[in-house]
Amino acid sequence: MNALLRGRVSLTVKYRAVIFDLDGVLCHTDKYHYLAWKQIADRLGIYFDEQINNRLRGVSRMESLNIILEKYTGPLLSNEDKERLASEKNETYRKLLMQMSPKDLGPNVLSTLERLRKGGLKLAIGSSSKNAPLILERLGLKHYFDAVSDGNNIQYSKPHPQVFLMAAEYLGLKPQDCLVVEDAKAGIRAAAAAGMDSAAMGDAAGYELATYSLKDIAELPELVGA
Ligand code: BG6
Ligand code: MG
Repeated sequence: MNALLRGRVSLTVKYRAVIFDLDGVLCHTDKYHYLAWKQIADRLGIYFDEQINNRLRGVSRMESLNIILEKYTGPLLSNEDKERLASEKNETYRKLLMQMSPKDLGPNVLSTLERLRKGGLKLAIGSSSKNAPLILERLGLKHYFDAVSDGNNIQYSKPHPQVFLMAAEYLGLKPQDCLVVEDAKAGIRAAAAAGMDSAAMGDAAGYELATYSLKDIAELPELVGA
């Protein structure tokens, strides 16, 4: 097994489903989030860089705005002002998402999803994004998933476990049957809080709360025995 095993691993690892985070795992929307937030930040005279953008991984749109506003020193903003800023950001972001196509998928994404499905695993999305349906459509990924749990069906975003618990519920499975794949530490914490094992990639790789750490998504089928 290539994946680096971490934490509590039993000898017979058996999952019935894999729940994928979307942004940062199946595709890379960071640059679009960055450009859309940067436009707002520049207009308000707020310092914003890629490092701050990294803190926005896995957290909701409004929470992201609050993180950006930590460096804001202008006149007080009302809740309506904040709602308006978040919608403006989203409009810009959705326009940028229209540039995405199946070409933007990582080289091993489709083959991995196909192998997992052939191996009898159910597949779901567990994303904080309200734009998950649009992104799945742009990438041609919709039909790979048995369930989509995203920013549209949750009240609390990661690190709260709700998005993953609802994905398991939509699949009709128990949390312990599901493996979560995540690139955000907030997402790994959400999986742990949901009682699910997790495989960490990218930014979250090596995080001590993750069950496994992956260098590449292509390691997944072997990890789950598909
Ligand atoms: C997550 C991203 O998937 O979705 C976050 O990692 C983002 O950076 C969040 O803030 C909410 O996205 P959206 O598309 O609902 O604004
Ligand atoms: Mg992510």
